[in-house]
Amino acid sequence: AQDKRESLYVLSQWAGKFFKQHLWETDLGKSIGLSYFKERGYREDIIKKFDLGYSPDQWTALVDAAKKDGFQEGYLSDIGLAIERDDKSLYDRFRGRVIFPIHNLTGRIIGFGGRTLKTEKSVPKYVNSPESEIYHKSDVLYGLNHAKKAVMDADLCYLVEGYADVIAMHQAGVENVVSSSGTSLTTGQIKLISRFTKNVVILYDGDAAGIKASLRGTDMLLEEGLNVKVLLFPDGNDPDSYIKQVGSTAFMEYLAAHQEDFIFYKTHILLKDAQDDPIKRAEVIREVVESIALIPDEIKVSVFIRQCSSLLDIEERVLLTELNKIRINRAKAQ
Ligand code: GTP
Ligand code: MN
Ligand code: MN
Ligand code: MN
Ligand code: MN
Repeated sequence: AQDKRESLYVLSQWAGKFFKQHLWETDLGKSIGLSYFKERGYREDIIKKFDLGYSPDQWTALVDAAKKDGFQEGYLSDIGLAIERDDKSLYDRFRGRVIFPIHNLTGRIIGFGGRTLKTEKSVPKYVNSPESEIYHKSDVLYGLNHAKKAVMDADLCYLVEGYADVIAMHQAGVENVVSSSGTSLTTGQIKLISRFTKNVVILYDGDAAGIKASLRGTDMLLEEGLNVKVLLFPDGNDPDSYIKQVGSTAFMEYLAAHQEDFIFYKTHILLKDAQDDPIKRAEVIREVVESIALIPDEIKVSVFIRQCSSLLDIEERVLLTELNKIRINRAKAQ
């Protein structure tokens, strides 16, 4: 079994090289893939640092090359580089896409994300490697291999939604950044972060989906004992698009100035909907206390209860009663 895993790593590494060669050394790779990355504003050193690639727009380019280099067909489908037809023949999963290899902590390639170059809505924007013996999505954070030292140095980790956001922030000089890459944040991913820092700033996309994911992510991070701040970019931007819009310097300034502690963030978001409706305001208070009640550290809990009290102009005593009620209900539900 260990031998098989090792073979799968070797095959992934080989595929990463295949995609890279196609990006840098073929006419179509250069004119379609490389120019796509350059249009997005990525420098060559960054394209190389992240091992970005291009998958030729053919049905069996990778399968044929892999077989020629002696790889077993079964392994190709085991890690999802190839997909099996009904007649058992194989075809390439990644075709005509730019490729973002996914590395594990030690820098080995374990999977791939492939972005379409087409703009039709009917084509999925990203195709990703499936779960495999070497790729357990819920335990992987994209970019962590490049970020871990910077995360420890800064004692802080930025959490973004996409591959492109990780890469754009690196290029802007912010290297302590990782992405959960499409999957919603998992406990395994949080435990991985907490090996390097207890401080997380969520930088999800400034759209409805990003807001929802940020609230859910906040609660999960709090529950694991991490300190959480949140910052969303204006007008539906994500970190990548915002850097492109305003430039690295203004991005860094925005980043420094607009991080909000989770309690302010959540309160502001929810209060916007509630306006002056007293019943809705009461619900906001309850929801904010629900988040506070997840925090395992009692000292932090009391600090946040005090903040919440002044923020929402509610007596601490009332909040503490609510906190206890929530805890009792949760204990019952266990
Ligand atoms: P760009 O348009 O390249 O900047 O992508 P993005 O990273 O901004 O994408 P988006 O915010 O739409 O989604 C965030 C992440 O979700 C992506 O980086 C992907 O990992 C994942 N994702 C996005 N679209 C799809 C999809 O169609 N299928 C799958 N499986 N994952 C997706
Ligand atoms: Mn798993
Ligand atoms: Mn999005
Ligand atoms: Mn995005
Ligand atoms: Mn984007």
